[in-house]
Amino acid sequence: MDYSTLSTEALQTSLAAAKKRHAALVKEKLDLDLSRGKPCPEQLDLSMPLLNICNSTFKSPKGTDYRNYGFLDGVPELREVLAEILSVDPANVLVGGSNSLNLMYDVLSRAYCFGVCGATPWCKLPVVKFICPVPGYDRHFTLLETFGIQMISVPLGEDGPDMDLVEELVANDQNIKGMFCVPRFSNPTGIVYSDATVDRLMNMRTAATDFRIFWDNAYFAHDLYPDAPQLKNVFCDGNPNLDRFYMFVSTSKITFASGGISALVCSDKNFASMHKYLTAQTINYDKINQYAHAQFLQSKENLQQHMAKHAAILRPKFEVIIAALRQAFDGCKEVRWTEPKGGYFITITTMPRVAHRVIELCKKAGLKLTEAGCAHPLHMDDLDSTIRVAPSYANIDDLDLCASVLVASLEYATLEELCKK
Ligand SMILES: Cc1ncc(COP(=O)(O)O)c(C=O)c1O
Repeated sequence: MDYSTLSTEALQTSLAAAKKRHAALVKEKLDLDLSRGKPCPEQLDLSMPLLNICNSTFKSPKGTDYRNYGFLDGVPELREVLAEILSVDPANVLVGGSNSLNLMYDVLSRAYCFGVCGATPWCKLPVVKFICPVPGYDRHFTLLETFGIQMISVPLGEDGPDMDLVEELVANDQNIKGMFCVPRFSNPTGIVYSDATVDRLMNMRTAATDFRIFWDNAYFAHDLYPDAPQLKNVFCDGNPNLDRFYMFVSTSKITFASGGISALVCSDKNFASMHKYLTAQTINYDKINQYAHAQFLQSKENLQQHMAKHAAILRPKFEVIIAALRQAFDGCKEVRWTEPKGGYFITITTMPRVAHRVIELCKKAGLKLTEAGCAHPLHMDDLDSTIRVAPSYANIDDLDLCASVLVASLEYATLEELCKK
């Protein structure tokens, strides 16, 4: 549909028809949800053998009893497996608790309370700012907001954040202490940072010497297609600023959500500096679960086979939504969307002032979407044009209905806006 070719009368007739389609869906009293990127029960079932491992194996081949205290940095077997999967040194892998958000919170808290590697604690500074690529992940923004950190929005494009802007900002403002990135299958647009973007992030000059990038690699293994783009490894010899990166991963969408394991990868210097605070914080994380994960994940090759099973469940769900959007809005500049090769989200970009209305119309017709503005710091999507769609949790049999409600609401709200002009 190309709305730009329609006359005023044709727009009004189309709006009346869209209202009818929407009203018919409202009558069905549906109860659908595309709001959160949660794995569905079939995905969780893939990891049930993990529970049997937990039940039966807690002694390492060397005879270590993982039911007891010890191993603050994580069980060696899992550090090795994760290191192989992530192409890093096991000595730089800290295995944490059951989710990565908690590790991010801890790293931020330590920087705030104690400072980064001997620098002034951020709590002692009059102002601390972070760069936030937008659209982005709502919980990153909430985390920063909680610490009173100012967020500077930078547009996220197909290859990553607008690097001209990022470089200029970080070079000239020493109050900019960090940046959140979801470099592979970003939440919510699904883009993957290009090698050129990663190179620029590794090499850029920053005014703050304690500048840190929170490299939230939450979707590092979550390919939907075999030709999904790879991400350049920041822990490589060519990176002149290894200390700049804290990489976070978890198995929340590999094994069990908030019931898996998380890991932080960082340089020797960052690792050593973190250690003394970690010793005060905990004796160790849950090693029974860590050891079971080591045996369940096994290797990069085995993980890829496991993730292919996730992809087989998820891919058709993405494809139903994308096919419906293509059918309704191909060539239409008022409604655009991403077609990611992995991850958990599709982003729809509407005309200005329309996203909020679409979400409201979906809700009326029984389809829950993530709140308007969620992908922007402080929920301030000035254009009101970003909608995040998470197809993973819905039952595949309900996906066609979800797509119908979404399309009907997009048509209704877009035509309504066009008719105002
Ligand atoms: C980008 C990103 N980071 C982190 C998380 C949460 O991960 P975890 O369950 O390990 O805290 C999510 C969950 O949706 C996410 O999308």
